[in-house]
Amino acid sequence: MAHQWQAQAEQTITYEVRMTDGVLDPSNRALLDAGATVRTDEPRRFIVIDANVLEIYGDALRKYLAHHNCEYRLCVLSASEEAKTMESVFTVVNGLDSFGISRRHEPIIAIGGGIVLDIAGLAASMYRRSTPYVRVPTSLIGLVDAGVGIKTGVNFGSHKNRLGTYFAPTAALLDRGFLATVDDRHISNGLAEILKIALIKDAVLFELLEEHAELLLAERLTGQTPTGDVVAREVFSRAVGGMLEELEPNLWEQKLERLVDYGHSFSPTLEMRALPALLHGEAVTVDMALTTVLAEARGMVSTPDRERIFRLMRRLRLPVWHPLLETGLLEHALRETTRHRDGLQRMPIPVGIGGAHFLHDLTVAELTGAAETLRELGGDR
Ligand SMILES: NC(=O)c1ccc[n+]([C@@H]2O[C@H](COP(=O)([O-])OP(=O)(O)OC[C@H]3O[C@@H](n4cnc5c(N)ncnc54)[C@H](O)[C@@H]3O)[C@@H](O)[C@H]2O)c1
Repeated sequence: MAHQWQAQAEQTITYEVRMTDGVLDPSNRALLDAGATVRTDEPRRFIVIDANVLEIYGDALRKYLAHHNCEYRLCVLSASEEAKTMESVFTVVNGLDSFGISRRHEPIIAIGGGIVLDIAGLAASMYRRSTPYVRVPTSLIGLVDAGVGIKTGVNFGSHKNRLGTYFAPTAALLDRGFLATVDDRHISNGLAEILKIALIKDAVLFELLEEHAELLLAERLTGQTPTGDVVAREVFSRAVGGMLEELEPNLWEQKLERLVDYGHSFSPTLEMRALPALLHGEAVTVDMALTTVLAEARGMVSTPDRERIFRLMRRLRLPVWHPLLETGLLEHALRETTRHRDGLQRMPIPVGIGGAHFLHDLTVAELTGAAETLRELGGDR
């Protein structure tokens, strides 16, 4: 008689990430077709949307849905880290319950920046144990980062993204046209995540940013001129492709050495303590500036390369220093990060421009020294 069993199962995850222009153009069926298993004359969709995005794109969205004879319910969320909580997840769940959807044929659509995508994704992953959803990122962070992976989450207490799941969307539709209305600071914020990919694995992307920083900023990567268009398309292709290359072999993050954690070792603590003063990408840049100085001190990044990196950070209108960066915070952040990475630091650190390496032996004294150097280099901003 058996008294012990072992159950084992595997699940294949497949999702499509696609750049598409004019996602709200009625002639583009991508939004309606994404994740739908059958075509019907009477589609129904539950749409979770960022309040700011609704204000700007509400008319176009309503026209799109009316054109396709789609019955819909809009669930409007405000995007702020303070409102990125389980309460917002429950708002989505309440809406889903009252609208009622077919889990097989009526995927949830999430339209917004990283905050709304993370909340909607968490709600979708929990609603009836999993309900398909489609991501339509509208911010730059969304387009190159939050929209392309499979993580969902909300903040809890003072911890960022403490509650969350790994739950792939059925599809992510990336339309850079949304960036036309994103404010300057949030464009820079998204460029920080692009810069991260450049620094750890793509020297060509770094050179593209270096060559065209002002143009990319001025055109918000929407390609207003022929050169701007070519450059922005290549930047997206490299940033999204590079991000997916890192994520795909390690979707559930079982391997704790992750290059994409670059810039995310000290920034979670910094970002939460500095709220709402620092945006995610800004905190990530301060973290990258700190680790670049550390790498320089260890001879892994040359001084001219460190100067190039800092110059580019400034040109992208990103901060390279923050007054909260002192010993207490660094010590706490190092402890938290090490705990989060199962007891080893596994700290991605740049090697030149476009390469990286993992460190496990950083000391608080070394960090404090680097923060001091950073204060001298960046304290004027
Ligand atoms: N799941 C992941 O893998 C992942 C990855 C990176 C970041 N994130 C999360 O994403 C969040 C940051 O994302 P974010 O920077 O997109 O923040 P966000 O969602 O707050 O959006 C930024 C601001 O831009 C506005 N906005 C969005 N699209 C707009 C548009 N087209 N026109 C005008 N305004 C627009 C929003 O209303 C908001 O005010 C963080 O909470 C972070 O934890 C998640």
